[in-house]
Amino acid sequence: MLLPQVVNKSLMGKLRDRVILVTGASRGIGRAIARAVAEEGARVIINYKSSAREAEELMLELRKNGLDAAIVRADVSREDEVRSMFELIRRDYGALHGIVNNAGHGSATIWNRGFHELTWNDFEEVINVDLKGTFLCSKFGIELMGDGGSIVNVASITARTGDTTGIPYLIAKSGIIALTKSMALSLAPRIRVNAVVLGSIETGWVNWLGSDEVRKLISYIPMGRLGKPEEVARAVVFLLSDDSSFITGHTVVIDGGECTACD
Ligand SMILES: NC(=O)c1ccc[n+]([C@@H]2O[C@H](COP(=O)([O-])OP(=O)(O)OC[C@H]3O[C@@H](n4cnc5c(N)ncnc54)[C@H](OP(=O)(O)O)[C@@H]3O)[C@@H](O)[C@H]2O)c1
Repeated sequence: MLLPQVVNKSLMGKLRDRVILVTGASRGIGRAIARAVAEEGARVIINYKSSAREAEELMLELRKNGLDAAIVRADVSREDEVRSMFELIRRDYGALHGIVNNAGHGSATIWNRGFHELTWNDFEEVINVDLKGTFLCSKFGIELMGDGGSIVNVASITARTGDTTGIPYLIAKSGIIALTKSMALSLAPRIRVNAVVLGSIETGWVNWLGSDEVRKLISYIPMGRLGKPEEVARAVVFLLSDDSSFITGHTVVIDGGECTACD
């Protein structure tokens, strides 16, 4: 379902009238990004795969506040579904100005496997959503960015450090950082491409861990707490907007200082 609605009250926003797709926006960080983007005056398109109810609730909440929002279902790991999603966007909006490649696999089972327990299938599952999804949405999306645009990819600090678990995930996120730089070089000057590199942000995964593990994790974060999805959303709005007009091919680390010694 894609139901654009021109009811935007945010006449002064940094993203006024821009059409922006946020993938994986039904929950977590994507949801906060979609909300922030709409509040800045954009016509936001909320992509989801399974959480139809949550996506629809967000769309209705935004519309109730006079903002412009629509939802579209597509599994970003499937080329046929991504192609159809962009055909709908072309049909209903005619253009696109921004993409936030946020959808992430997020499986606790795969995350907890150490190197010796991993199968290649585990790699494929994660890489297909995070990396292939980012590639596919960018590839089809840029065809609608005739007036130029900005792409923001979502990566993770684990891509810079390596780890004993979550290996398929950090491989996918490393690929996203390399893809970000390569796309920035290939698409300049018309389209800017940057990534946000996230530390521990408070979303559903916190429920997988016991409170002791969360406390231990927080002890590594100089800011002494987890990040909030809204704090990521503010940086993403900056990268989508003209405030970052000379920034491309770079990463913005949002981690409360956790990765100060990564490089
Ligand atoms: N939270 C953190 O601490 C953290 C740290 C570093 C990086 N990140 C990255 O930030 C992004 C968001 O993370 P989060 O914590 O908000 O995750 P989350 O709460 O698990 O939400 C994941 C979102 O991705 C969507 N999604 C999953 N598979 C999809 C697919 N095949 N096609 C389309 N959408 C799909 C889900 O939609 P449905 O429910 O509709 O399927 C959901 O909206 C991810 O890329 C994640 O890797 C997060």
